[in-house]
Amino acid sequence: SSNAMWGGRFAAGPDAIMEAINASIGYDQRLAAQDIQGSRAHAAMLAQTGIITSNDAEAIREGLLTVLSEIEGGTFQFSTALEDIHMNVEARLKEVIGEPAGRLHTARSRNDQVATDFKLWVRDQMDAAMQGIEALIRALLSQAEAGADWVMPGFTHLQTAQPVTWGHHMMAYVEMLGRDLSRFRDARARMNECPLGSAALAGTSFPIDRHMTAEALGFDRPTANSLDAVADRDFALEFLSCASITAMHLSRFAEELVIWSSAQFRFVTLSDRFSTGSSIMPQKKNPDAAELIRAKIGRIFGANTALLMVMKGLPLAYSKDMQEDKEQVFDAADNLMLALAAMEGMVKDMNANQGPLEAAAASGFSTATDLADWLVRALNMPFRDAHHVTGALVALAESKGCDLPDLSLEDMQGVNAQINADVFGVLGVQNSVSSRMSYGGTAPDQVRAQVARWKETLG
Ligand code: ARG
Repeated sequence: SSNAMWGGRFAAGPDAIMEAINASIGYDQRLAAQDIQGSRAHAAMLAQTGIITSNDAEAIREGLLTVLSEIEGGTFQFSTALEDIHMNVEARLKEVIGEPAGRLHTARSRNDQVATDFKLWVRDQMDAAMQGIEALIRALLSQAEAGADWVMPGFTHLQTAQPVTWGHHMMAYVEMLGRDLSRFRDARARMNECPLGSAALAGTSFPIDRHMTAEALGFDRPTANSLDAVADRDFALEFLSCASITAMHLSRFAEELVIWSSAQFRFVTLSDRFSTGSSIMPQKKNPDAAELIRAKIGRIFGANTALLMVMKGLPLAYSKDMQEDKEQVFDAADNLMLALAAMEGMVKDMNANQGPLEAAAASGFSTATDLADWLVRALNMPFRDAHHVTGALVALAESKGCDLPDLSLEDMQGVNAQINADVFGVLGVQNSVSSRMSYGGTAPDQVRAQVARWKETLG
């Protein structure tokens, strides 16, 4: 049979394959609540402006609430023949209230309808992402506060570089996630314009009030160009971009947790609640949550690239290609929320192991820079010379199989005669971190100040 929505022009219905490639109801039913919200705002505006009667608007309003409760209650029969969520809802509305249902689509197209629905959905996800990030930041702040004094190795090239504090390392992620938060905040503010009333592409001759619908749906204003409004998916791309950068940060941290929880590092112990065992090796406790975070992140990057590819060749305004926006964004959003929640759970539960952290901090000649700095300060040596002398001392310690603080004064004086016993005061890791009081440095007091600043910011 031909189509109820555009049957006038058609003699035959679609081929089964046409229906299969065309239908989006299998996934865009996730937009049901937003679709009904948008339709309610549209109907109220049509009545307010005298385009439909208030009786019809009231019938539409009540009918839409019935449809919504059917969908929420799981009794709604979704139909592939009706293509997408918009036509499924409208067709059911017709069954429920009859003739007035046909007036809902006045001065509207599915093009502005879907742009509006999708924006509402993405906006909610931006809010959810910001909540998830904030929760993770709070978990990291607790870790940083507890371990502001605990010493651990700081790495470059994953080689021991200089001692840092556990709190400092946790706060590095707080800074990254703080920027992620502000990126989502910026994107949300930019996208918060309402496409509804742009109609198919050119606007409408009906005397609609776009400011009214924009306000009813929580937008700051209506979009200013109807062609742009129905063709724009920047908001979804910005969501995916912000999600990708956040996800990249989660993945780096996940990678560190995988390394840190190994028997070779023992920097952290992950809780049983966020670990799994092995079916053959009884001793195993695996960091699967961290690994899956690291892996799922790829789907988010993939979605970002996929939607850019969908959009890059499309002439204005709407093309059906754009229907492919949703699954990418749905999947990316689901996996971002899951990754954020899993990371928050892991961070809340995990125990930093102070003993192994401190032992590792002291190994690998981690205070060599402190030694070189001391030569500059105490002996007024140029830094380049101090670097050279320290290098020779490291080589000496390495040949003796000991660490820098284990060298005797005579050993050191053999390399440079001016070195005196004061040098031993700078070779300890605790001293090393405490001395790095520069703003943003790793000293416990600096870390505590940053924790306090973040707590104040978050309230
Ligand atoms: N299901 C469609 C989508 O998601 C709705 C818009 C359809 N518009 C059109 N002109 N065929 O993009």
